[in-house]
Amino acid sequence: MSSLLSLRKSASRKALSYIKPGMIIGLGSGSTIAESFLPVMLEEAGSDVVEKNFFVPSSRQIEFRALELGLRLLSLNQVEKVDVTIDSADLVEKESLTAIKGGGGAFLMEKVLSSISDNLILIIDENKLVEKIQPGSLIPVEVPPDFIIPVKRRLEKELGVSVRIRTGSGKVGPVITDLGNAIIDVPLPEGYSLGQLDSFLHRVPGVLETGIFRDLVSKVYVGTGNGVLELERRGVML
Ligand code: 5RP
Repeated sequence: MSSLLSLRKSASRKALSYIKPGMIIGLGSGSTIAESFLPVMLEEAGSDVVEKNFFVPSSRQIEFRALELGLRLLSLNQVEKVDVTIDSADLVEKESLTAIKGGGGAFLMEKVLSSISDNLILIIDENKLVEKIQPGSLIPVEVPPDFIIPVKRRLEKELGVSVRIRTGSGKVGPVITDLGNAIIDVPLPEGYSLGQLDSFLHRVPGVLETGIFRDLVSKVYVGTGNGVLELERRGVML
């Protein structure tokens, strides 16, 4: 049986075809990017990417990792657009390519990055691919800590679900993101589509962003035991 790492590395190898000399590349966050994509990219493209590309990281995790690897970085504030962003996700719906992101807590930066990228390419293993994202799946929501309690109260009252403020390991209390915010994990309520929940959440004052990525993903490479599956969003020009 193939290990998770080898599935993710096979998918990462395919995504490399999107990296051309001179391009500005966005980097998502999490273990797939840090432990599969970046090592594979360095193995296969080596000094070429170090000398010919700039990278825009979406978190301190990836910023520090990229610096250790000798990559040249730009911040989001320094670029007008990004040619392609390579990222992962927690769940991806097979038909729509809607993704849930934010297990690593970097989804606000990742969403801004993807919004200025010509293409967003995801690398996942087969365990993250689902036919449909089910009620109860946790949707991360980023909220500044100064008003986390009223926002939490309103979400529970209006959605009729119990939500939780994310806590971390290695620190007591709430997870505080790289941008200084807290995260509420909201279970997708019965009877709500992801689009309906996303629209509702964006209307709640205090909500900065959600981990629902709709109509943003261009392509997904899925590492499976039988090779890499390629899924493309309909109507997207790559
Ligand atoms: C971080 C993310 C990650 O892409 C997502 O959580 C997947 O992480 P991993 O590669 O560790 O499974 O959205 O905000």
